[in-house]
Amino acid sequence: MIDLNPYRRIEDDLQQLAQYTEEPTRKGVTRRLYSPQWAAAQRHLVQLMRGEGLNPWVDAVGNVHGRIEGRSRHTILTGSHFDTVRGGGAYDGVYGVVAGIFALSQIKKRCRVPEKSLEVVAFCEEEGSRFPMTCLGSRAILGAWQPEEVARLVDDQGTSLFEAMQMNGLDWRSMGEANRSDYEAYIELHVEQGPELEDAQCAIGVVSEIFGQERWLVSVRGDSAHAGTTPLARRQDALVAASAMVLAINTLGYRYEPIGIATVGILEVIHGSINCVPGHVQFSVDFRAAQDSVRQRLADEIRHAIEDEAKRYGVRVNISPKTVAQAVPMHESLRNTISERARAIGLSQMPIASRAGHDAQIIAQALPTAMIFVPSAQGLSHHPDEYTHRQHLMNGSVVLESTLEKLANG
Ligand code: GLV
Ligand code: MN
Ligand code: MN
Repeated sequence: MIDLNPYRRIEDDLQQLAQYTEEPTRKGVTRRLYSPQWAAAQRHLVQLMRGEGLNPWVDAVGNVHGRIEGRSRHTILTGSHFDTVRGGGAYDGVYGVVAGIFALSQIKKRCRVPEKSLEVVAFCEEEGSRFPMTCLGSRAILGAWQPEEVARLVDDQGTSLFEAMQMNGLDWRSMGEANRSDYEAYIELHVEQGPELEDAQCAIGVVSEIFGQERWLVSVRGDSAHAGTTPLARRQDALVAASAMVLAINTLGYRYEPIGIATVGILEVIHGSINCVPGHVQFSVDFRAAQDSVRQRLADEIRHAIEDEAKRYGVRVNISPKTVAQAVPMHESLRNTISERARAIGLSQMPIASRAGHDAQIIAQALPTAMIFVPSAQGLSHHPDEYTHRQHLMNGSVVLESTLEKLANG
């Protein structure tokens, strides 16, 4: 029987990290890339790793790494991200970081020098909640980014990514130094963020694949006019047109579920005024599918739906694709190792597809990669009430630790 007592502190560490939020009067956690609160969480993680004897360092994009040196330089990597969406929860991402730190610390105490080296990384960014780009941290360690693409990134306050880096003592010209070639495999532990494990009363999800996803920004231009004097039939109301587009996208989401899904998460009237017909509206589209061919079909249908509504309401539209991530399967032999470890520990498990995006999605393009999920209460995530019970947090940590130890020692 495993003594779970040492693992109880994971929940306390997560509560402490949840204090670093940009919007303290709002429920939940808002910790976007390179904000002062993000920087405070980064310092906290450095201290946590230092306290566990993992010799931490910060790389050229702000990822925090800690490491146990093995007999070989070949390295098994674990971790996740420590940024959040606006008004997100205390578990998404940072659970995998804290549990990874703790797993390495336990392994270090037990078997001083493993065969392979082990590393934990706290990725600087995964959510794309400040700049229109996702997974900057994992892209940087793979060298999977383009200077021209990154140079264009600006947040909604007009601050460029490069300026934000500079404010944190980072120089974009050194970004290439974050690139690593000694990683052999990546294991990410994460809360499920959906209801399947809880509904099935299952302790551990072994991820089979990660949905591909795409994000667009749609600009709808009509004509601003007087709200009292302009007859309805003469209007080119950008908001009414955008509303019809949102409903059409939602209908497509219903048609594609469960193999695909679509969401409008942002809708903004530009220079809106209470007594004016809206002339300019912008909205986002996030759509995902288990297979890239399905996502492509869904993309075509969403585009047609937007164009049809634009014609009907006499407005002009411009669709700007912002980010794309391919669908990826998880590595079969790593999945088997996780399953076998969960079984040995006596925990129930099931295969599960991830409809959420993860750093693992990027890393899987270059390395054998697998993910472990634990249940999310009521399937809630990207929500202030996101919650995972302490027992589930401990279960996931034990399976992670056991998997890493197996991979490092054979
Ligand atoms: C990231 O959490 C995403 O799936 O959008
Ligand atoms: Mn998230
Ligand atoms: Mn996440």
